[in-house]
Amino acid sequence: MKLFISIAVAGCLLMLGGEPCLAKEKKATTLREAFKGKFYIGTALNRAQYMGYDTKADEVVKKQFSAIVAENCMKSENLQPQEGKFFFDEADKFVAYGEKNKMFVTGHTLIWHSQTPRWLFVDKDGKEVSREVLIERMRNHIHTVVGHYKGRIKGWDVVNEAIEDDGSFRKSRFYKIIGEDFIKLAFQFAHEADPDAELYYNDYSMYLPGKREGVVRMVKSLQAQGVKIDGIGMQGHVGMDYPALEDEENSIVAFASLGVKVMITELDLSALPAPKGNRGANIADVAAYQEQINPYKKGLPANVEAAWENRYLDFFKLFLKHKDKITRVTLWGVSDKGSWKNNFPVRGRTDYPLLFDRDYKAKNIVSKLINLAAQTKQ
Ligand code: XIL
Repeated sequence: MKLFISIAVAGCLLMLGGEPCLAKEKKATTLREAFKGKFYIGTALNRAQYMGYDTKADEVVKKQFSAIVAENCMKSENLQPQEGKFFFDEADKFVAYGEKNKMFVTGHTLIWHSQTPRWLFVDKDGKEVSREVLIERMRNHIHTVVGHYKGRIKGWDVVNEAIEDDGSFRKSRFYKIIGEDFIKLAFQFAHEADPDAELYYNDYSMYLPGKREGVVRMVKSLQAQGVKIDGIGMQGHVGMDYPALEDEENSIVAFASLGVKVMITELDLSALPAPKGNRGANIADVAAYQEQINPYKKGLPANVEAAWENRYLDFFKLFLKHKDKITRVTLWGVSDKGSWKNNFPVRGRTDYPLLFDRDYKAKNIVSKLINLAAQTKQ
């Protein structure tokens, strides 16, 4: 027996180059492995990626990520561009991609003021529809889409961006025509269509105290009315000087205390200066191009890259600290080449917000994140 143990120990030391046997767990070499048991690590996919045309992307996505969300193909203008005419081909491919690679698939998004087809709010003469008609159209869209993916899409961004930065309701056409109940109705319709799917509210700039309070108020009101809501998505389009980590943390804690899951759903860290007054992700808020806010056309200087890495690490340290509350962290894209941040909030800039470079090579931050996760206890 003694002999057996010493042989085993000697063998172990030999195999691990002298490292103590207890630390023998296989070292994670990918994000997917490193974050396993902590939270899903996800990415948004664009068309070339889920169609498999972009082979370099395909390799990275399969290896590195455990969750996916569609960057555009499940938005209502794509799924139902004309009343009653649903186009599921693309989204079906996206969902099949996730299933094939055993990934958690999120549907994005059912009700949003943007990327919504024009017909939704007007009748055939172009006149605004009544409350009843819009509710009926919402019901039909949600029932058809959620029903189509019943049991396959595990979580839905049911309502996106319904609260303003100051906590008031966004005066979207859904709000103006239906009133604040459009949110409750959207969640109810989604629940009817797939009682097992998780249902989320998703928004940007969730670190702002006013927005945080508005979202907490809204979720409490849904809960008081018996509406099923399972999670809150904090988009996370962040910059080098916003948000303060403390504000982000306060929101994570405030949302989790409602008894729902918290997710970071659209993470990207811009390396570029934000145009004055624009730190959000409201699609309509585009600023004019200026040379001085596009300073790194040929690559990031080493000191900027180092600061950018540290900032990413700070965010992930915070997420890992709250891994009991956070179920998923999803990057808004794979490579800098395809990032929407090259065109938002200013068109035509060269930004560096994601974890893989323009050639899909892992940036140094990837191994740093893997090490950080590995150092964090389950
Ligand atoms: C963006 C996509 O990345 C772009 O390709 C598209 O042109 C506009 O929408 N908040 C959201 C996402 O919830 O759906 C947005 O995605 C980014 C901001």
